[in-house]
Amino acid sequence: MPTKTAVLSEGKSKILHTTDDPNLLIQEFKDDATAFNGVKKGTIVGKGVFNQSISTSIFRLLEQAGIKTHLVEVLNDREQLVKRVDIVMVEFVVRNIAAGSLCRRYATEEGLKLERPMIEYFVKSDELGDPLIGREAIAILGLADYEILDLASELTMKVNEIMVAFWKTLGIDLVDFKLEFGRDNEGNLLLADEITPDGCRLWDTKTGEKLDKDRFRFDMGGVEESYARLQSLVTEAAGV
Ligand code: TMP
Repeated sequence: MPTKTAVLSEGKSKILHTTDDPNLLIQEFKDDATAFNGVKKGTIVGKGVFNQSISTSIFRLLEQAGIKTHLVEVLNDREQLVKRVDIVMVEFVVRNIAAGSLCRRYATEEGLKLERPMIEYFVKSDELGDPLIGREAIAILGLADYEILDLASELTMKVNEIMVAFWKTLGIDLVDFKLEFGRDNEGNLLLADEITPDGCRLWDTKTGEKLDKDRFRFDMGGVEESYARLQSLVTEAAGV
């Protein structure tokens, strides 16, 4: 079993550790929560445990559907063994229903069901505040070439299809979410990072209640309860 050797990087919600195997990292989920590009900071007690579990269930579900991911195995409540990847410095956001920055940018009404799912690209950069970016700029500025961009976009749409159907069985609408991809040492493009309520908007289909990190962003209360509820729904339904 690989053991931790050093901290490779510490982000807002996770720590990546190197291991004695150069191709494997340990991804540790923290309870720290930030919003609005780190302007708001806090703690969601138990979030690391909930998110590790939710992300594992969803990644395994996606693996079963043929999506390659970085996940190797769960080590404990907060830690996963993952393949080391060269991360694509672009965040892939899919939207099914208008919310968040889309509404702010274009004065779109929150809750508007979009005619079809749409992808938006953001630069993965805390210093820049993850700005929106277009395909041309991604390619020309060298963030990713068109081949990677097209493949990752195709995978993103496939993940959306699987996830919308999965959350629907739980009585939850998948409003939007963010994915990250990376290339392994053989050049394969793998789904990386996490899929958790930190990076997804999830609304109760019947009541419209917000169940995701918006509860933290907008001080709506019941954050821990909501994450706990999602974790138990997901682990039971995914059965993996
Ligand atoms: P947005 O409405 O703030 O652009 O976010 C859309 C979705 O993507 C939302 O579920 C949160 C997620 N997201 C992140 O998790 N991290 C990010 O840096 C961005 C830009 C979005």
